[in-house]
Amino acid sequence: MEQYKFMTLGRHIIEGEKMHPEASGELSYLLRDLSLAAKVISLEVNKAGLVDILGFTGDNNIHGEKVKKLDIYAHDMLIRAMDYGGHLCVMASEEEEGIIHISKKHKIGKYVLLFDPLDGSSNIDANISIGTIFSIYKRITPENTPGAMEDCLQQGIKQVAAGYVVYGSSTIFVYTAGQGVHAFTLDPSFGEFLLSHENIQIPKKAKIYSANEGNYLYWHKGLKKYIKYLQEEDKETGRPYSSRYIGSMVADIHRNLLYGGIFMYPADSRHPNGKLRLMYECNPMAFLIESAGGRATDGKQRILEINPEKLHQRVPIFIGSEEDVKMVEKFMAEADVEKTVS
Ligand code: AHG
Ligand code: MN
Ligand code: MN
Repeated sequence: MEQYKFMTLGRHIIEGEKMHPEASGELSYLLRDLSLAAKVISLEVNKAGLVDILGFTGDNNIHGEKVKKLDIYAHDMLIRAMDYGGHLCVMASEEEEGIIHISKKHKIGKYVLLFDPLDGSSNIDANISIGTIFSIYKRITPENTPGAMEDCLQQGIKQVAAGYVVYGSSTIFVYTAGQGVHAFTLDPSFGEFLLSHENIQIPKKAKIYSANEGNYLYWHKGLKKYIKYLQEEDKETGRPYSSRYIGSMVADIHRNLLYGGIFMYPADSRHPNGKLRLMYECNPMAFLIESAGGRATDGKQRILEINPEKLHQRVPIFIGSEEDVKMVEKFMAEADVEKTVS
């Protein structure tokens, strides 16, 4: 790998901005504030086994799932790090039912931030990688007024930047502002994110599939056929594939971004919209993966073109290497045709 000496996240963002003299610099400040929140959350995640922070708070979040203390810590930290900067007009978080207004004490900006503060949080106790996912839009309501729900409910294609932070064997900040996907690894000794992967391109086809196969029984017939197809032997098409499922979307997608592969959280007969949230998980990941040359759909429609109806809307997702995603779509379309014929 090429060695990048001291290309910090901050410096990289500024360099990128120099190519756009019309840019106001606000997006750079916003990303810088996000990276600061990421460092603080990373510290807390690393301390999780040492201090009395593990365990349920006893509350359920708005989705009826158990919430861990670190979810709330990360949610609060992001709001505290982001609301004073003057760059945002509104925020929304997976951990809060309604939109989050910017405190009246602070300047109102032109950007909108949506985030999943801690993704994969059921894995915390087992020391498995978790992450933070973020998505940034420009507001559509008039400037200098409080942001509104319609600023948050924009199509994914309107994102101006998106990214995630994976808290794993190291902490990595991955983002795109539309021009390439770049990853920065946190050097814990001096607390800087350093460029480690520039212009990441996801392989067009790979040998990894990632899904919770415990739900197999409830899946679409075409998807079942596709999984069986991946498990068959065929040297020419590189089968059988390997199955890799961490159960932390950030970690599963990060691996697939680097090695190639397909990640799926499909609809099933018990959950017709799948599990993952459009605004906090699917849109930002789709923006990143498409920017890296991959594909993301709900099986039929491009994720980024879905018209959001609700803040906490769930959608099925198939995301990753382009040819692999196209293949699962083909299997499902064929099964639908068979169903209508029979
Ligand atoms: P979160 O911790 O933000 O609620 O997200 C968990 C998500 C995602 O990270 C992961 O891909 C998926 O849930 C795993 O779900 P299953 O346990 O149903 O496989
Ligand atoms: Mn999540
Ligand atoms: Mn979460």
